This record gives sequence, C-alpha cells and structure tokens, in this order.
Amino acid sequence: MTTTGIASLGLALPSRYLDVRDLAALRGVDPDKFTKGLGCHEIALLGEGEDVVTLAASAAERALARWGGSPKDLGLVAVGTETAQDMSRPLSAFVADAIGLRGAYRSYETKHACYGGTVALRQALEWKASGAARGKAALVIASDVALYAPKDPGEPTQGAGAVAFIVDDASVAEVDLESHAWAEPAFDFWRPVGESFPRVDGPLSLACYETATTECFRQLAGGRPLADVLEGFAALCFHVPFPKMVKKGVMKLGEAQGWDEGATSALFESKVMPTMEWNRRTGNSYTAALWTSVAKALAGAASGTRVAAFSYGSGFGSELLTLTAGPAAAAGAWVADVEGDLARRERIDADTYLAYRGA
Ligand code: HMG
Repeated sequence: MTTTGIASLGLALPSRYLDVRDLAALRGVDPDKFTKGLGCHEIALLGEGEDVVTLAASAAERALARWGGSPKDLGLVAVGTETAQDMSRPLSAFVADAIGLRGAYRSYETKHACYGGTVALRQALEWKASGAARGKAALVIASDVALYAPKDPGEPTQGAGAVAFIVDDASVAEVDLESHAWAEPAFDFWRPVGESFPRVDGPLSLACYETATTECFRQLAGGRPLADVLEGFAALCFHVPFPKMVKKGVMKLGEAQGWDEGATSALFESKVMPTMEWNRRTGNSYTAALWTSVAKALAGAASGTRVAAFSYGSGFGSELLTLTAGPAAAAGAWVADVEGDLARRERIDADTYLAYRGA
C-alpha cells in the first residue's frame, strides 16, 4: 500500500468520570437541561497521577504498539493541544520523555483551540505527500483536558481524552489531500496567559461554529447539491463540544441549503448521531473530540467507506476533511482502548468532584 494516511490509531481516556445528573444536583439545575438541553451524559475526569501528558503518552504507546514500524522510523512527532504544560517547551517533549523517544525527528506542539490536533495531522499528511518525509512516518497526538471554572455554564460540557495517529500508509484510512478550510478572527472562547480556565462568549461561540459548518460544507459541495455529495458518505463526524451543538450545526446547514427540517433531522440521526457514542461518555476533549468521533466511525467500516470530518477551533478556524476507510478499519483494533478504559474507570460522586475542583 503506497497511499498516505492513517496507519494506526490509539486512544486513551482518564480513569474517573462524573455523571452530569450528579453535577446538576450539585449546582441546583434541572438535570434535563444538561442531558436533553445540551445532550451531555458523562464528564471524563483525571485520576491520581494523570494529566494531559499521561493521556497523550498512553494513546501514543497504543498507536505505536499496533503499528508495524518502530520509533526509529519516525521523522516527526507533533502534539496538538490547548492544555499546554509550558509556554516554551512543547508537549511533544513531555511525551517523548514519558515514552522514551529521541532521535532524528522533528518535534513540536500546535495550537489552535480544538482545531490544533487537526492542524498537526494535516501538516504530517502534507509532509508525507510532499516527499520531505523520505520514507519516515509521523506520530501525531491530539490530547486535552477540558475544564471550565466551577459553576461556569460550560461545566457540564467538560471532559478529557487523547487520540494518537501514526501517519504513514493508509491501512486505517486514506485522508484526501484536498480539504475545505474557513477561518474568521473572533473572541468566542479564549484563555489569556496565566489564567487557568477559558473565558467564553457562549452565544458567539455557537454562532461561529454554525458559520464554520455552513462555509466548510458549502466548499465541499463545490456548486453541486450538497445532499447528493453527502450521499457518498457513510458517516459525518463533527467537533463535539457537546452533542446538541453538533445537532444545531447540522440543522443550520440544512436551513442554509433549504432542506426540509425532517430530512435534516433524519440525516443527523443516521449519519451523525452514531459517531458521537464515545463522545457522550468523554465530554468535550477539545483537540481529541472530533478524532474520537472519527475513530468511532471508522471502527468496523468496510474498506472504501467514506467518512467526513469537520474540525472546529475557537478563535476561530475550521476545516472539513474527507477520509476513506482502509483494510484495517474493519477490525477496529482501537475499540479495545476505549472499551477497556470505560470499563475500568470509576464514577465519582458530587463530594469527590467538589474536592477535586475546590468549589
Ligand atoms: P447556558 O447558557 O447555560 O444554556 O449555556 P442555555 O440556557 O442556552 O440552555 C442550553 C439548552 O438547554 C437550550 O436548548 C435550552 O432550551 C435547554 P436550545 O434552545 O439551545 O436548543 N434547556 C433545557 N432543556 C430541557 N430541560 C430543561 C432545560 N433548561 C434549558 N429544564 C452554553 C450553554 C453552550 C453557552 C455553555 O454550555 C457554554 O458556554 N459552553 C462552552 C462553549 C461551547 O461549548 N460552545 C460551543 C461552540 S464553540 C466550540 O465548539 C469550541 C470549544 O470546543 C473550544 C475550543 O475550540 O477549544 C468550546
């Protein structure tokens, strides 16, 4: 196989979680607001000794272990995150320490809110396609811990997780080099230097996400009826800040296209909703959220199955990628990462959550 794409995938989730109904009781909110209003179910939370690096390292080790190559075959290690550990030292160096990497490879961190992991992945794919890789592979990781200030409206959408990719041959999926990007400068969600939690203009963030969705899919259609183009895709994956946001984005897309509301809802239920099964158990994992959905969509997919992946990062930047499942997708080896982590994790109660957050 000579085409470029994702040769191996690994995922990692932290060891604890909070049910959003317990958070609702703690904050004196109707639980339906979180479960029905936002579509949230569980918030993945760090356990003792876990952080953004251990999540990234664990996802990377899993992706490396099920790849045919070895670390000396890597020419690039990039981590997309918005949970930076340092203003200078890249998260890729922390991960290299954790998993014992050193050698003739380029190492860096990328940042663009939730879009940062996609940027790292695109760069690795384009580096391979350009010939500059000279036969080497890339290790790309998207890893984040999403926490809002206690009592912030975003609190029920918190989460964490990491997805790692080996970019080499297209055993798991080929990623089309053509993609569709849209960016506009906005202060919808940002975290000033020195502050622990993001500042958010919630309503603006929803509007920016909807604009990004509409613009990227308009480009994908390229003047053809979008409904016809989407027929070719078995799954449509989105960045998932919370599941209701994704539904809002899809409904806005349908409205912009002049589709009947029922038809748009049916499209959402059949091609979008199933891809968010793992996201409902993790909450927002920022850079990893879209790729958790893509990993779900690719797991068990027959070779040749087409999947769309819409990446969004506040600030804002967005890009719509298209993938084709490769021969290793059907076995979906990475399902074991998610199912194993979910089975092992501990549900914490509201008091433990309060102690963890300090408020
Ligand atoms: P809020 O103001 O608390 O919520 O915060 P609300 O009052 O707008 O209610 C939310 C929904 O719950 C509404 O439904 C209510 O009607 C419903 P809608 O009208 O939207 O369909 N509701 C109820 N439903 C059933 N029973 C009830 C009930 N009460 C209310 N009793 C907000 C919501 C999203 C603003 C907040 O969660 C927030 O600030 N989140 C963080 C920002 C965010 O996630 N934005 C999404 C787009 S930006 C993005 O994706 C980037 C991001 O991932 C960061 C990055 O790029 O790095 C965030």
